Amino acid sequence: MKTTVIAVDGYASTGKSTLSKRLASELNFTYIDTGYMYRVVSYFALNNNLITNGVILEDQLEVALAKTNFTWSENSESKQMMFNGRVYGDEIRTLEISTWVSRIAQLGFVREHLVNQQRILSQLGSVVMDGRDIGTVVFANADYKFFLTADPKVRAQRRYDELQGKGEDVRFDEILKNVVDRDHQDSTRAISPLKKAADAIEIDTTLFSVEEVFQKMVSTIKSS
Ligand code: CDP
Repeated sequence: MKTTVIAVDGYASTGKSTLSKRLASELNFTYIDTGYMYRVVSYFALNNNLITNGVILEDQLEVALAKTNFTWSENSESKQMMFNGRVYGDEIRTLEISTWVSRIAQLGFVREHLVNQQRILSQLGSVVMDGRDIGTVVFANADYKFFLTADPKVRAQRRYDELQGKGEDVRFDEILKNVVDRDHQDSTRAISPLKKAADAIEIDTTLFSVEEVFQKMVSTIKSS
């Protein structure tokens, strides 16, 4: 059976997850949020004393991570990704996790472990996968590749509204700083840096609603 892979990469808070989830639901594909995986590992490190005094204990994290895995939950109607048997939610979307995640994501052994897991998780069939290195590394042969960008202030405002809506006490300037810092760290890291694949379709979402971007993606897929 021929399976299809849609890769959605781009900068922080460009709407990748929202759009990828909708696309997967529209096409009846599995949605794989790879940012979730890097965030969960950051949460795991923070909550197991593998980050102390601002330092990541890399050797210990590597040993601990090797014993972990991601699986699909079997008993829920919508497929959810579990890490060591547990589904994670808002606790991995906090500003604290966002300030650590790009440092965790630049570690070679973390990327190697997660990319392996991503390939295993996608063996079920057609997927929409979003992240930073999907169209360039994880699925360099993806059938469709999108690369999302937007003005940093607009992206920070979207993330600010989201976190405020969840009751997190955050300031706009710290969110903006986090978005800009992460873009910089993600784009300049040595391994699998964030960059547009040569054959990806770039969409600047600054002036468009989620619905408009979604329609653009769907029409690109259906017309080719
Ligand atoms: O949703 P948001 O744009 O804030 O980010 P995310 O997709 O949840 O990803 C969080 C972080 O994980 C990114 O800033 C990257 O540092 C890292 N990441 C990565 O390195 N490679 C991926 N394929 C996905 C995420």
